[in-house]
Amino acid sequence: MMTNEREYSSDLEGTSFSNEQSDLVWDHEDVLDLDDFTVQEIETVIALAEQMREVLDRRIARAPALRGFTVINLFFEPSTRTRASFELAGKVLGADVISVSADNSSVVKGESLIDTVKTLSAMRADAIVMRHSMSGAPYLASTYTDAAIINAGDGSHAHPTQALLDIYTLKQRLGSLRGKKIVMVGDISHSRVARSGIWGFSAMGAEVVLCGPPTLLPAGLNDNVHVSRKSSNLPSVQVETDIDVALDNADVVMALRLQKERQQGGLLPSLREYSKLYQVTQERLSRAKQSHVLMHPGPKNEGIEIAGNVASGSNSTIEEQVTNGVAVRMALLYLLAGKGQVGAN
Ligand code: MLT
Repeated sequence: MMTNEREYSSDLEGTSFSNEQSDLVWDHEDVLDLDDFTVQEIETVIALAEQMREVLDRRIARAPALRGFTVINLFFEPSTRTRASFELAGKVLGADVISVSADNSSVVKGESLIDTVKTLSAMRADAIVMRHSMSGAPYLASTYTDAAIINAGDGSHAHPTQALLDIYTLKQRLGSLRGKKIVMVGDISHSRVARSGIWGFSAMGAEVVLCGPPTLLPAGLNDNVHVSRKSSNLPSVQVETDIDVALDNADVVMALRLQKERQQGGLLPSLREYSKLYQVTQERLSRAKQSHVLMHPGPKNEGIEIAGNVASGSNSTIEEQVTNGVAVRMALLYLLAGKGQVGAN
């Protein structure tokens, strides 16, 4: 893929994002998943996100570092927070942002994904933020365009920007993720949030525990299994079907939505049964550390995977995740525009 050779305005209107730390590392033209991110690259995104968060917290949140940069949101699946978050991220940085949803595009007339991407590319899109129900779709798209492709969720495969915003939020709360026990509870099998989270959290030194009913755990992962780095190329995870055991002494608990749109029938006897056995409730959380951080990527179904009072309780960081999502996406757009190179404006 070619590097982006267009020039962007360097007018920061009083804002300068520091690129001077010698440890700023970035070598990506697309953001497809976290499996090819080094720890230093994750740290780079977080360091920039911190600066972006300061901009967001200003009374007038504007720092037009990306004037002339065009971002197209291409969403083939519903989204509230991810789409709005990218839109806002681009706008705060002064980029031109356009959102296209499959329902209102030529896709309904039979246009293929490849043609759609080529068309947006011909309009000189600099970045295409893409959500698609097929795992791997953003990878395919990236081979047909010079625009940066950002994966905003592909099937049950990956959601890298969610994992980055979760890492940023946890670093704010806990300082470091090293040695922290992070328990993800729910529909692990169909969750792209879980998959990207596993890569990112493990890279940052956390101990990841996956918890759900056996029918919602990926095939091949059994209860009580510990997949270690030594036995595979995959990150180390612990699998546990008993939620009370999983939550014991947890530093972080992340509840995941049942991905009904991706499930075959027959995986659960009933929603009622599921919530009885796996809902993250206050009572169950008494097993976690008192200072635990409670997360949910949203959208949440209160009363199913999470109790309402837990979602809005004092350990919950759900709203912070949403705000930090804008900051992380600002950082990524900024880096993909070529601004992250050490010494670049
Ligand atoms: C996603 O797009 O995967 C969401 O962030 C989480 C969900 O849909 O449950």
